Amino acid sequence: MAIRIGDEAPNFTAETTDGTINLHEYLGDGWGILFSHPADYTPVCTTELGAFANRKAEFDQRNTKLIGLSVDSVESHHGWAKDIEETQGSALNYPLIGDEDHTVAELYDMIHPNELATLTVRSVFIIDPDKKVRLTLTYPASVGRNLDEVIRVLDALQLTSKFPVATPVNWTDGSDVIISNAINDDEANEKFPGFETIKPYLRKTKQPS
Ligand code: BEZ
Repeated sequence: MAIRIGDEAPNFTAETTDGTINLHEYLGDGWGILFSHPADYTPVCTTELGAFANRKAEFDQRNTKLIGLSVDSVESHHGWAKDIEETQGSALNYPLIGDEDHTVAELYDMIHPNELATLTVRSVFIIDPDKKVRLTLTYPASVGRNLDEVIRVLDALQLTSKFPVATPVNWTDGSDVIISNAINDDEANEKFPGFETIKPYLRKTKQPS
């Protein structure tokens, strides 16, 4: 069964490069990103894992823990990690699940057999502090993910969780936002004085902070 936005993130306990991890305990009361890679010692995955490691401080700033997955063994991951450090300039600094029996991959519907028979596709799940899945992304093996987009959407999710706003097309941190239609003009005036009404259903304001 596919995981949908709003579902509770299924919990699991798995072996990782940082030892045995229970997902919900690992995430604690912060945000989390679970992402899968088709296989160890493959080129696109090597660049992706290195990029997540290089940008880990940006996830830390957002109170967000990373956890990757590949269907090879933890022992294989440790060997591959040396290549990641050598070629991408940063050592693995977050856990990588060894999902040889596909337990987690199946739980999260990460194997799409018409794309790859036994390997995972490139899945991303953003999980909020209530353990709700807030975003899913799925890429094929041949296309590496865009970490600017992962961070952009994480910022948007954290912002829209805190304030009654939504983010417009191509929003980036610091740009104007849309006032939620769940609040009326009186409430909007209190919360966002000076907001702009373009249409009654399209009201814009500076990004709150
Ligand atoms: C890659 O990471 O480059 C890759 C992994 C599995 C299948 C194809 C490509």
